[in-house]
Parts: sequence; structure tokens; C-alpha cells
Amino acid sequence: MEDVFGSVAQQLELSSYAMVENFINKDLAIGLYNEITSLINEDELREAAIGRGVQSDVIKSIRKDEIKWINQDNDSPVVVELLSTINSMGAFLGNYFRVSIKRYEGHWAHYPPGAFYKKHVDQFQETSNRIFSIILYLNPNWQEKDGGELIIYLENEEVVKIKPTLGSLVCFRSDVLFHEVLPTQKSRYSVTGWYRNDELLPLTIA
Ligand code: OGA
Ligand code: NI
Repeated sequence: MEDVFGSVAQQLELSSYAMVENFINKDLAIGLYNEITSLINEDELREAAIGRGVQSDVIKSIRKDEIKWINQDNDSPVVVELLSTINSMGAFLGNYFRVSIKRYEGHWAHYPPGAFYKKHVDQFQETSNRIFSIILYLNPNWQEKDGGELIIYLENEEVVKIKPTLGSLVCFRSDVLFHEVLPTQKSRYSVTGWYRNDELLPLTIA
């Protein structure tokens, strides 16, 4: 995987986003696709929120996906395999860019037909703990007519359109890069997450 991580780092350095097709092998990608579709059948995903304390009708005009946070102690073998790759890449990128990456947080995301996510950056205004965003797409046989492309707005005003095809990965800076998800015509699946520079609080419940 080191070659792929190196490519992600170089792309990030050159143009503030990175895109890799077939980032994970097909068996793992299909395994993850099967996992998210069963979670949806079991009604495990919930409407997503934005930042903190935003009214829910406001939220629905901005984003319409539904999510489930991934538990790091997840015992599903496909999730364990994915997290191991993602965590290794986090260590690689932290080292490459000399930034502190302490952990990854990620969630399953489902955009039902008609869902979108308007232009935004991923860092909450009040905090700056998200360093890089990483999205792994899980859509077998994605076609143009399915929509739901990711639009990336680069600083030089160039606009890039990314197809959410099975096994593709996108990575970009969470603090500055504006992006948007176009309305999807068909259910659209992904694992979306962030490398963070803070640690989880060691909470104990008294
Ligand atoms: C997000 C996001 C993009 C995508 O969840 O913040 O921008 O392509 N997702 O799913
Ligand atoms: Ni985003």
C-alpha cells in the first residue's frame, strides 16, 4: 500500500486533493458494500446533522444523507481490514506532511435518491481538529445517469467532478477545500471520515 499512500501524498501536495481508483481490492469493496446495505436494511442509519445546534429544517436544505458512525472496535472483518488500511495511511500522511494525526473518525453514508450535500468545507467553524477528509465510495456499476458526483472547487477556480465508483478514494484538506455532492438519482454509498489531530477523551462513567 505504501506506493498508493505515496501517490495520495504527492497529489495532495500538488493540488490539494487526491483521487485513487481501486484504492481497496474488489473483494473488500464488495464486502463493505454488503455491510452498508445490510445496516440500511436493519434501519441502523440516521439523518445527518451539521456542526452543532442547527435547526433540522435548515439542515435538510443543505444535506440529505443518512449516516452511522463506525465503531473503532467493530468486529466485522471488512471494517477491521478497512480501518487498518486507513490508519496506516493516516500515519503515512502525518509523517509526510509533518502534521499531527492522532486518530480517524468515520461513518457510513447513504444518499437516498434525490439526496445531495450543498457546497461546504468539512471543518466546523468553532474547532479545527479535522485535518484531512477521506471518502471511499461503494457503488458497484455506477453510471453517469446515476449522478451523485463529488464536485471539488480548487483554489485556482478549477472545478473537478469525481465519479463515486466502487473502491475509489478521495482525500482532501478539511479546512479549506470547498466541495459539494450533486443530487443522486440512485442510492449512493460511501465511508466518509476524517483524520484528526486530537485524542479521544478517556471518558469513564461514574
Ligand atoms: C461530507 C462530504 C462528500 C461525498 O460528508 O462532508 O462532503 O462525496 N461528502 O460523499
Ligand atoms: Ni464534506
